[in-house]
Amino acid sequence: TQLDLAIRGGTIVTASDEFRADIGIRDGRIVAIADGIEGAPREIDASGLLALPGGIDSHVHISQAQGPDVVMADDFASATRAAAAGGNTMVLPFALQEKGTSLRTCVENYRKLAEGECYIDTAFHLIISDPTAVVLGQELPALVKDGYTSFKVFMTYDDLVLNDKQLLEVFDVARREEALVMVHCEGYDAIRFLTSKLEREGHIAPYYHGVSRPQAVEREATHRAISHAEVIGVPIMIVHVSGREAMEQIRWAQQRGLPVHAETCPQYITLTADDMKGLNMDISGAKYVCSPPPRDVENQQAIWEGITTGVFQTFSSDHCPFRYDDPKGKLTPNARTSFRWVPNGIPGVETRLPILFSEGVSKGRITLQKFVELTATNHARIYGLYPRKGSIGVGFDADIVLWDPKLTKPIRQADLHHGSDYTPWEGFDVTGWPVTTIARGRVVYEQGKIVGNKGAGEVLSRGKSSLV
Ligand code: URP
Ligand code: ZN
Ligand code: ZN
Repeated sequence: TQLDLAIRGGTIVTASDEFRADIGIRDGRIVAIADGIEGAPREIDASGLLALPGGIDSHVHISQAQGPDVVMADDFASATRAAAAGGNTMVLPFALQEKGTSLRTCVENYRKLAEGECYIDTAFHLIISDPTAVVLGQELPALVKDGYTSFKVFMTYDDLVLNDKQLLEVFDVARREEALVMVHCEGYDAIRFLTSKLEREGHIAPYYHGVSRPQAVEREATHRAISHAEVIGVPIMIVHVSGREAMEQIRWAQQRGLPVHAETCPQYITLTADDMKGLNMDISGAKYVCSPPPRDVENQQAIWEGITTGVFQTFSSDHCPFRYDDPKGKLTPNARTSFRWVPNGIPGVETRLPILFSEGVSKGRITLQKFVELTATNHARIYGLYPRKGSIGVGFDADIVLWDPKLTKPIRQADLHHGSDYTPWEGFDVTGWPVTTIARGRVVYEQGKIVGNKGAGEVLSRGKSSLV
């Protein structure tokens, strides 16, 4: 067989196995896994390294419209560059429906932003903010057929919140069309009530963002989403679960045999609400403002319990990057008058894999196989990309990250490739880093440098979720 590339001497890890073998690649696909693959025009020496399926980050926000006064810190070029440097070979961003606009038009606009700009493959989920009769009856079914097989709905945020009837209507379309619904579970009215009350009391610093969204608010919405899904008879994915209370609702549902699935993120195993205090309750706490908010160390433990016992199927970044020192970022003109005006979200696409590897594998909490499952294989299965993506085997896309499990260094903004001007994990020590990222057989990232090409990544359409 003619090969384009061989990866030699590494230890291949999949969600089930771990073995020494060489990998032969042709036309962007894995065509051979064997001992002693020779004769390729290019060889990469992977001795001492792990060869893992490239990370798939199924929850990232890129160039998502935020209203007139706020802009995201990453476009498709910078986000996918950062993703590749963090060991990822695919990301799944969102195409946001703007109210009053055809969903199809919105999707095409996001596609145009992505096409020709990406270093690695992407595929869009939809965000449904306005489930009109036309959207539910015509646009969504057509878009699912075109490969947009998952959509996210929100139970909070002024511009995005759906009421219970709307949630049920979207769930019912998902059931009929065999799409997967992702649900942001936080109760809108309780948050609005608490936000106004805190403001009246003069509690306006970023720290109070967390106080305005306590676990009970997430737990209640999680339970409500589960109940609605049960009423309709549809599988759901509860995204960005932050702590014990929501996790227990999900476990309860799973133990009853309901098709309820869940995602968690690096912030919920490493950050706490106290990070939002910044320096003495100053505005720098805004760097950590995201929703749901990080909780405390006891809840980090609960999330680990959920990871190791199988409550969570995916570990995603929820990359939602803003610049800090920027009036169009975290420091909007009103940010100092209330936490309400601080854009929600933190950058994390480049640090997701190192954080989980270090805190999980290096510290002995999870196996390498579990790491691969949580960061790649389950994302591919759940979002309709398997068996093209998500593992290392003959016939899969050659999406591979060569990983140094022993390399220890702290996370530094100065080393990152994203568009934000800070990382919430500045100085955080990590053991285990990506060395080389190969996407569809092409080296994208190597020894700290981006060597791939903008436009090499494609916008893919997806098949049905394994969960429907
Ligand atoms: O604060 C966050 N997570 N912003 C991103 C949007 C979302 O809800 O996932
Ligand atoms: Zn969300
Ligand atoms: Zn998100």
